Amino acid sequence: MSRPRVIVTRKLPDPVEERLGALFDVTLNPSDRALPADELKAAMREADGVLCAVVDPMTAEVLGVAGRRAGIVANFGVGVNNIDLKAAEAAGIAVGNTPDVLTDATADIAIALMLAATRRMYETEKMLREGRWKGFSITAQLGMGLRDKVIGIVGMGRIGQATARRAALGFGMKVIYFNRSDLRVELDFPAERRATIEEVMAEADVVSLHIPGGGENRGRISAAMIAAMKPTAYLVNTARGDVVDEPALVAALAAGRIAGAGLDVFAEEPKVPAELVALENVTLLPHIGSATLETRTAMGMLAVDNLEAFFAGRPMPARVV
Ligand code: DGY
Repeated sequence: MSRPRVIVTRKLPDPVEERLGALFDVTLNPSDRALPADELKAAMREADGVLCAVVDPMTAEVLGVAGRRAGIVANFGVGVNNIDLKAAEAAGIAVGNTPDVLTDATADIAIALMLAATRRMYETEKMLREGRWKGFSITAQLGMGLRDKVIGIVGMGRIGQATARRAALGFGMKVIYFNRSDLRVELDFPAERRATIEEVMAEADVVSLHIPGGGENRGRISAAMIAAMKPTAYLVNTARGDVVDEPALVAALAAGRIAGAGLDVFAEEPKVPAELVALENVTLLPHIGSATLETRTAMGMLAVDNLEAFFAGRPMPARVV
């Protein structure tokens, strides 16, 4: 029996590529070049399955291409806002993702951004590197301490919980959170209360975003929500750039209407607004929330598990539709 044909849209960690090669007739992308829409369509036509990244736009047009052969899209990532799930479901295309294995790495980056922002790391490091440091000062470069401050988690899923746990147990912060629905698990760390998103934005000293991108969450953190934040508060985003009204955030940071931000994601990656780049009260990272060798390897292995199960007719370990 011939092996299923799988097309991979991005360079993957070596052990993942080796396993794919052992299981499938695989076409890799060693150049790591982002495939344009016509190549994604060709992949859907030519392969039994496509393994793609969270930034590959698997639109209705790509998924619905005439002569489609692929029955599965295995997303390398937990977020699936790059995939038109309705179109996939309507076309009977299975969609897999990679939850859980990236929770710790992403929560670590949320905490790193919170520390970087509240302790003014970018601004002070820049000053030092530019030779502007005049020596130790008792009163300059003061940041905000975290103990007893309120972290407001927007989206209390796995990564939101892992971030809150670190903040509560590691830094002595008080946790309030917004979540659309009741939590399905009992929290194993102290949290003060579930609140409305408006309350979280207005009361938190640090707001950390963990809601999925796209759909109804696009622009959820609106200009009005940003305006409701305390002038001393910080915003951390490791979720998706499009959940924030980016121009409104840039304006608030530039005017000092909020104290600062730590951002790992942007509305139109890899474009980052020049005004944002110029600001000193924001730390900017290039979407590296899950970027550890261990995590990216585990994500790849889970994407391969999804493909293997699908082609064997078994339930996929992480199936979205
Ligand atoms: C995800 O998995 O959704 C991350 O953004 C990519 O690591």
